[in-house]
Amino acid sequence: MSNYYKFIDIVDTKPYVQHFLESFIKENNFIELVTNQINKTYIEYPLHIYRDPLIVKLSLALTKKYKFPPISHFILFYHTGNQNIHADGSDVPRWCSFNLPLMGWKNTKMNFYSVKPDAMSINAESRYYKENDVIQQDQFNCTNDWVLVHSGLPHNVVNMTTENPRITLVNRFFGNPTFETLTTLINKASI
Ligand SMILES: [Fe+2]
Repeated sequence: MSNYYKFIDIVDTKPYVQHFLESFIKENNFIELVTNQINKTYIEYPLHIYRDPLIVKLSLALTKKYKFPPISHFILFYHTGNQNIHADGSDVPRWCSFNLPLMGWKNTKMNFYSVKPDAMSINAESRYYKENDVIQQDQFNCTNDWVLVHSGLPHNVVNMTTENPRITLVNRFFGNPTFETLTTLINKASI
């Protein structure tokens, strides 16, 4: 088992892909808004404002099956090139994300890294690391499946191109639980 990611078969992905690609992103003008931003490749949607029925359904399914805290907000990412190596969050790490790549995920990979002693990070919206300051520890091939990822350690998604942009649905939980906390809940539920 990886200490960095875990695939979870919780609800059928097809309705999510269809809903977000065919309805949500159009109704919310996502591509125009996200591509007009500078240095920001995502838009956040708090669940108390964007009460999306499919995200509510996902949140309830995870709470019922694994006792996860509810989803607080979801985010759509739009990537046209390799991500820089970063850890989510700035002063406070964002420990865990629950992701579903919606399009452009073929051939993309997610890498996880440890930090060399004395390495510096550049604190912006996320904490960014230089390639020389990290050591790759794990990697997985991205698919159109739900995956829980340890987003509080340095990581990046690579192999996106301008011809084949990647859109990813990311969910975050109330209380900022760690990857270890959530995988422990999953293991307890399956005993
Ligand atoms: Fe990230």
